Amino acid sequence: MTATIDRWQQLLASWDAQQTGYLPRREERFAVMARTIGEVIGDSFVALDLGCGPGSLSQRILTAYPGATAVAVDSDPLLLELGRQTLARYAERLHLIDADLRDPHWHHRLGVENVDVVVSTTALHWLDPGTLYAVYRRAADLLRPGGLLLNGDNLPYDTTQSTHQRLAAAADDRVTHRAFAVDGVPDWARWWAAATADPLLTAVAEERAARRQQADRTYGPRDAEQVTPLSTHVAALSAAGFREIGTIWQHHDDRVLLAVR
Ligand SMILES: C[S@@+](CC[C@H](N)C(=O)[O-])C[C@H]1O[C@@H](n2cnc3c(N)ncnc32)[C@H](O)[C@@H]1O
Repeated sequence: MTATIDRWQQLLASWDAQQTGYLPRREERFAVMARTIGEVIGDSFVALDLGCGPGSLSQRILTAYPGATAVAVDSDPLLLELGRQTLARYAERLHLIDADLRDPHWHHRLGVENVDVVVSTTALHWLDPGTLYAVYRRAADLLRPGGLLLNGDNLPYDTTQSTHQRLAAAADDRVTHRAFAVDGVPDWARWWAAATADPLLTAVAEERAARRQQADRTYGPRDAEQVTPLSTHVAALSAAGFREIGTIWQHHDDRVLLAVR
């Protein structure tokens, strides 16, 4: 039993190590987001975490604010299971929801109709622009007036800023080379290969594979090359009715974008 609990915790630690391999300032970014919520909203609130993975951002927010609750959404059954197994101590305040943001009815699964803050890390760049517009519109509907949206993500420069793009790419190369080639941290592909081969995860890994096939049939395969630029996020937030849309933290194209409802 203890060995199983330890294994789940190891898997979560290796998820964090893998993500930190790409984002050495990941914890700083989480901290900026959490602090911003406290400064603007206070210490008691309901947060909606989009593309939560194993609940990484929600976990940090709930630790910082014992009076907060989080509704955290993801479409990956393996990462959700990892969150359920490792974050049980937050069970009263953390609701992990299995939903795909490409489904126009994803919000029906939340169990809440109003939230104070919508947050996301390293997730919304996966969405095609049409889905992104729809998700920001839905987020605006769910947020109370004065509520916040905070997106910590890779939000690339436009093609007109080729020098900025080049510098960001060079910084990424340095960081990922250090983490994955020099320090030997398992990268995304190696993490997934190990996780899906882990006997603890056999059933959920099979479910994940089947779900991904079904999602490809429903929504079309995801274009891994396409990463939505910052300007599209800003335009989509503006179209959704947000105001005061701006970057509050940045390292090259790794940013925290804040918008006020
Ligand atoms: C790189 S992970 C980040 C997870 C977590 N937020 C973190 O910072 O560790 C990206 C997450 O977005 C989720 N995701 C991508 N597309 C999604 C969609 N259409 N609906 C729901 N979740 C999605 C993935 O399943 C994955 O968990």
